[in-house]
Amino acid sequence: MSNPYQYAKRNQERFLDEYQELLRIRTISTQPQHAEDVARAAEWLREMMLRIGMDSAEVILMPAGRCPLALGEWNGAGEAAPTILIYCHYDVQPAEVADGWDTEPFEPTIKDGRLYCRGAVDSKLHVMSNLKAVESCLASDDKPKVNIKVVLEGEEESGSENINAFIAAHPERLAADIAMISDGAILAPDQPSLTYGLRGITGLELHVSAPVSDLHSGHWGGSVHNPIQALCEILARLHDENGTVTVPGFYDDVAAVTPQDRALLEKVEPFMQAEWDDVVSAPSVWGESEYILPERLGARPTLEINGIHGGYTGAGMKTVLPARAFAKITCRLVPHQDPARALRCVMEHIKRIAPSSISVEMRPSEPGAEAVLLDVDGPAMAAAAEAYTFAWGVEPVYERAGGSVPITFECMKVAKEVVIMSYGLKSGRAHGPNENIYLQNFYNGIQSTIKFIDVVGEGRG
Ligand code: BES
Ligand code: MN
Repeated sequence: MSNPYQYAKRNQERFLDEYQELLRIRTISTQPQHAEDVARAAEWLREMMLRIGMDSAEVILMPAGRCPLALGEWNGAGEAAPTILIYCHYDVQPAEVADGWDTEPFEPTIKDGRLYCRGAVDSKLHVMSNLKAVESCLASDDKPKVNIKVVLEGEEESGSENINAFIAAHPERLAADIAMISDGAILAPDQPSLTYGLRGITGLELHVSAPVSDLHSGHWGGSVHNPIQALCEILARLHDENGTVTVPGFYDDVAAVTPQDRALLEKVEPFMQAEWDDVVSAPSVWGESEYILPERLGARPTLEINGIHGGYTGAGMKTVLPARAFAKITCRLVPHQDPARALRCVMEHIKRIAPSSISVEMRPSEPGAEAVLLDVDGPAMAAAAEAYTFAWGVEPVYERAGGSVPITFECMKVAKEVVIMSYGLKSGRAHGPNENIYLQNFYNGIQSTIKFIDVVGEGRG
């Protein structure tokens, strides 16, 4: 028999095959027509957890029967040993060739050391790195000295409507000494990073209407406040020319960027700039000039217009005065901002600035999520740093991620400590066309999780 690290290396090819099998299942949680695929994946994961040697595994249906959780447990380390909870999500964003994919979105394709597929990086990479790490630990002679719980969520991409209520109703199911949230990205293929913060989120739909129906712009134009124009006027007043949000009260509770943040984030700035140039490649960087790029991306709140719709956009001329227009807005939040309060500030501001010539209706998108900030000096963070250093051969730097994983804040209530372990890359193009992973990150991720389990088991976590 071998140790878990060797086992993982010997089984790399099979692990990659299994990962591709999961990738082929279209686990799109936002689209009801894929509910069966999501359910099939949950069952696949349950069977996988039993096959890799966990004591028990079950699929738990969420209300309305959709987007089940797959939960697994291994308690072989005994009652006195600590428990690690590993969280990942297996649902994915929608994807279609027409969005700009060079390959079939749900057919894994390997090219130049990368694997392309929807869900490759967000977040089946994490699901499989962690499950294969657990398999490697359970298959070796020296069994882990920690108990392991695995929770795999099927509705993270549609806003985690039910999981927080599930934790609140069954806190013991997810209770742990350390919760490892595995999602997100490191800085570069050869530069691991530890995420010590995630942003929260809130959002709304803003509907503007004026005339009862679409009108001839010749008959009526000049006498009606065009809803698209009015919407744009409102949206244009939500930021100033520095990129700062102008909503009164929005920044009231925002936790300041500390000198420790600045010192840590200055180290990641060159990496982030390089990624920005590679992935974003807009004519120039934009945003709050008093904050460096990693702060704008992780430590500052934002208000983003995600979509805008209205009027006629087809071929040829149509001289229409549209009846309505709408926009989708989300805000990324930082620690101490209450999602409900931030949303209220935005809604009240819009109500205040909306002219009386139009009607405005606002629909909050539920639920929001709170931001999290982790202690970079905590023991679990030190164990994670040791794991990354072992797997990559390079010490990690520390960054704050801009994305949101809604379960994280709730996990802080049922786990003594939380760490975030990310194995993807921003160049993995999560949510976009040609989503991919750098294959080596999959293999390093497995080694990293094995090491993390080892280090915590030895009492250093
Ligand atoms: N994997 C992301 C979260 C993430 C992104 C973590 C970047 C770290 C860095 C996750 O799957 C995601 O996309 N979350 C959504 C949550 C939303 C739908 C509530 C997000 O951040 O937009
Ligand atoms: Mn995502």
